[in-house]
Amino acid sequence: MINLGIIGCGRIVEEAHIHALIELKKLFRVVALADPSSQQLEKIAAMLEKAKLPRPALYTDYRKMLKTEKSLTTVDMALPHHLHHEGVMAAAAAGLNVFTEKPLAVNLKQADAMIAAMKRAKRSLIIFHNYLYIPAIARALELVRDGAIGKVFLIRNEGLGGGHWPGTASYDPAWRTKSAKAGGGCLLDNGYHHLYLCREFMGAKASQVYAVTRTYTRPITVDDTAVLLLSYKNGGTACVQTAWSIQGGAGYIHEIQGTGGTISFSQINPATGQMAPLALYTPKTAKWTFPSLGKRHGNPFTGFLADWGAKLDQWLAKGMKGAPPTNAPDARRNLETIEMAYKSSKAGKAIKL
Ligand SMILES: NC(=O)c1ccc[n+]([C@@H]2O[C@H](COP(=O)([O-])OP(=O)(O)OC[C@H]3O[C@@H](n4cnc5c(N)ncnc54)[C@H](O)[C@@H]3O)[C@@H](O)[C@H]2O)c1
Repeated sequence: MINLGIIGCGRIVEEAHIHALIELKKLFRVVALADPSSQQLEKIAAMLEKAKLPRPALYTDYRKMLKTEKSLTTVDMALPHHLHHEGVMAAAAAGLNVFTEKPLAVNLKQADAMIAAMKRAKRSLIIFHNYLYIPAIARALELVRDGAIGKVFLIRNEGLGGGHWPGTASYDPAWRTKSAKAGGGCLLDNGYHHLYLCREFMGAKASQVYAVTRTYTRPITVDDTAVLLLSYKNGGTACVQTAWSIQGGAGYIHEIQGTGGTISFSQINPATGQMAPLALYTPKTAKWTFPSLGKRHGNPFTGFLADWGAKLDQWLAKGMKGAPPTNAPDARRNLETIEMAYKSSKAGKAIKL
């Protein structure tokens, strides 16, 4: 059982994390919550009580929570981007394991300091790469890894939306559009997910990025449109587009081309609410088939926390001996790609990673 404190109890906790943690109540015990907003604290505490779980201790200052709550082994952080660094550094100093929301940090300098601090503390650092647990994506990855489409050489990954996801009303709903709090725009916020998906589908790390990041339609201090052309160490290529600038929104498109077939699907289109199912074409069948998604958690946060929570729980049961479970190298790689994409856009040329 993982005794957990939540730091930052805004929209993503209210709409996703807490539902997953309630579903996984045999693995996680939410002991305490921290957020300067008493309204958010009360809301999340009420959700736990409604699920017949004990009322957690509430803190408006997470540092006080870290000092007071001796039973905590782990924190779940869902803070605005500019606070990820100070939150993880504080958790490392308190000797706690960390689940933190993406992106790991707003720049590589912060990320390296966080990874080093967690390594020194010999604690686990896990970043929410939850899109890997969206049922259609998880099944598509399984097919790719099983060799269903041969060697992947080309990926089209698009997430074109009409605006940013507003944060909770009691903090600053527009923090994502302000560079001082967000660190970057649609690329750092949403594009982050596309980049780890491309890496996993390609089965290789990115080696070069050419990017155009722009602010076309919104009066904001971060990018609302980003287009990336990526080369990978296995010779493959990916084209990633992400935006908050598209009138009507165009949804999420995933196309993975292999030497032995194609996988194609799309996720919710905000305009029509429709979604193209996971489809597989191979020359062997010479037609499109629609593989079943199998039995998976509908909430990708539940899938993510079940998987990484089980790894963390086993490591805790072994007295935290041996290497802690972590996906920090992947999260760092993702951030590096994004940092180099912004650099590429500024310089107007491709940048090697
Ligand atoms: N993985 C995903 O799919 C996904 C989806 C949405 C959001 N997120 C991530 O979750 C994080 C939070 O996003 P959100 O949409 O929930 O934002 P939000 O604005 O709704 O929530 C942020 C919360 O942090 C609190 N906060 C601010 N300063 C604090 C402090 N010093 N100590 C403790 N709490 C503090 C705010 O009061 C607010 O409740 C971001 O990193 C975002 O990128 C991830």
